[in-house]
Amino acid sequence: MKKHHEMFANAIPLIASENVCSPAVREAIITDLAHRYAEGVAGSRVYAGCEFIDKIELKCIELAKKYWRAGFADVRAISGVVANLIVYTGLTKPGDKMMAMPIPQGGHISHNRTAINVHGLKVDFFEFNEEEMNLDIDRSIKKLKEYKPKLVLFGASVFLFPHPVKEISEAAKEVGAYTMYDGAHVAGLIGSGYFQQPLEEGSDVFTLSTHKTFPGPQHGSVLAIEDEELNKKLRLAAFPALLSNHHLHNVAGLAITLTEMLKFGKEYHGQVIKNAKALAQALHERGFEVLAEKKGFTESHTLVADISKLSETIGWGDKVEQVLEQAGIILNRNLIPKDIKEKRSYKTPSGIRLGTSEVTRLGMKESEMDYIAELIERICIKQQDIKSVKQLVKEFRKDFQEVKYCFKSKTQAYQYINIH
Ligand SMILES: Cc1ncc(COP(=O)(O)O)c(C=O)c1O
Repeated sequence: MKKHHEMFANAIPLIASENVCSPAVREAIITDLAHRYAEGVAGSRVYAGCEFIDKIELKCIELAKKYWRAGFADVRAISGVVANLIVYTGLTKPGDKMMAMPIPQGGHISHNRTAINVHGLKVDFFEFNEEEMNLDIDRSIKKLKEYKPKLVLFGASVFLFPHPVKEISEAAKEVGAYTMYDGAHVAGLIGSGYFQQPLEEGSDVFTLSTHKTFPGPQHGSVLAIEDEELNKKLRLAAFPALLSNHHLHNVAGLAITLTEMLKFGKEYHGQVIKNAKALAQALHERGFEVLAEKKGFTESHTLVADISKLSETIGWGDKVEQVLEQAGIILNRNLIPKDIKEKRSYKTPSGIRLGTSEVTRLGMKESEMDYIAELIERICIKQQDIKSVKQLVKEFRKDFQEVKYCFKSKTQAYQYINIH
């Protein structure tokens, strides 16, 4: 464990689905709450000992509704996948049809395998426009009207630009479908007023992870418009259908992160997006083929690059990921749209995905993005000695050891906490 902490304290963390929570949140998640059960909802529990747990959960719900501007919030889902499963369970029956994002174009595995294998849904996919790196509105609406799904799911794991929620939701309502938006990746951007507002644009439900752009503990939530019948279905799907223990320490951590983001989120998430654009531009200028150049690369925390050109020198995405990791630069390989045509698998894709949520939380700004691009160039294009680049990474990280955009603390971002 100590070695893991040391590794991250000396690395550049660029995984788009990860972040680091504040010391105050780390304190919450090692409290006694981690030992407790509170089945049910506040005020109507199946367990004793919940007096303060109820207060924490009600506060968390109040803050979640405020931050995400939602009429309904259930903060019990223990992860983003479980949040999605709660919606599938509450709003559909096995055998119903769902429409979602195709996986190679950025859809998440829970939109496919989880929906099919766990809840027995039939899934078909939206049409995708590779140039735009977004859903093709007209072709998707045409397909939706023919397919007549019961549930329409927006959102993705490679989420560069806002989805056309308004246009497609109108068509979904015409065929009597519920709409949901998986904002696992972009939840923080949305809460802080960037990207898009799914519940205002026509989505009935908004699911999320609380640890990607939203920098909280690993957990999930289900938000929705205020609608008694819909809200009841979601609540009952959470418990008694899918949850027993709902990780109360993380509910407390989530409440603290919501307080932090209501205060610091505007500034933090604005910088996350500026950093993603700056990193994309800096990589582009160094010869990397960053996708969606014509659209300014990204409107979120994520950017994706096609690294096919490196296949003769370094290898495909797996090898690029590996050499960068050896130098302390941590990102992940990713399928990109052209991989389907070229029959490349997720093991050796021609893309890499980078995210700026965590490096921004450590206080980095545009000039640091430029230096990170230079370090990536040193490894991937100039093929410099890995050990010497790793040393540069370590030096660079010395000035970025605190979690920013939160209440002040002496504890550093990756400090190992001894309790004895
Ligand atoms: C779009 C999307 N939904 C759901 C998830 C799963 O979230 P969790 O890991 O919180 O279950 C992810 C994970 O990266 C994701 O990208």
